[in-house]
Amino acid sequence: MTAARVVLRPLRPDDAPTIVAYRSDPEVARYQSWAPTLDDVLGTIDAPGARAPFAPGTWTQLGIALHASGELIGDVGVHVFEGEPLQAEFGITLATAFQGRGYATEALRALLALLFDDLGKHRVTASVDPRNARSIALMRRAGFRQEGHLVESLRFKGAWADDLVFAMLAREWQHHRASR
Ligand SMILES: CC(C)(COP(=O)(O)OP(=O)(O)OC[C@H]1O[C@@H](n2cnc3c(N)ncnc32)[C@H](O)[C@@H]1OP(=O)(O)O)[C@@H](O)C(=O)NCCC(=O)NCCS
Repeated sequence: MTAARVVLRPLRPDDAPTIVAYRSDPEVARYQSWAPTLDDVLGTIDAPGARAPFAPGTWTQLGIALHASGELIGDVGVHVFEGEPLQAEFGITLATAFQGRGYATEALRALLALLFDDLGKHRVTASVDPRNARSIALMRRAGFRQEGHLVESLRFKGAWADDLVFAMLAREWQHHRASR
């Protein structure tokens, strides 16, 4: 899965220290519920062939790497719903040093091509904290439609937090892709 400048690829055990380092950055962790230890990250990385990626009811974690150097700069997690495997949700994270250059936009478009074009998903969603301006801007750049604002629906870091739901249907992806 290659975009112009970034590649989505399976994670490897030697990626774990990098992931822990950028996810420990308070700027990156502010609106995220997963602040993993090395063991937590290693627990998400399967031996090659151990588990089918994108299996219903599971999360699949992919790395975002620079195409030119192979350097890992972020990750995406994809959850395919157990009861409705034609629907998936995702979360996306970039190390702070690599934000602000359009890498997340490219990675997200590569992910949408994978989910809609290769895996035939019908609907893809993301849940975003309304205070997370960079994430909201990313959703809009990638063509997502805001379809819900849930009020104090999540217990997050000891307080109730709102939740914006962004969604894209397969036909909206086709339209977005054609209009670019
Ligand atoms: C959410 C997140 C991935 C967005 O990253 P981002 O760097 O803002 O997004 P992009 O990589 O697409 O970069 C967009 C910026 O690059 C600029 N840019 C430069 N070249 C670009 C290009 N070719 N294409 C698109 N944007 C480009 C845009 O103008 C935009 O600039 P701005 O930040 O001044 O508005 C990032 O903020 C993050 O990891 N946050 C912490 C984790 C988190 O909260 N994740 C959300 C959970 S769903």
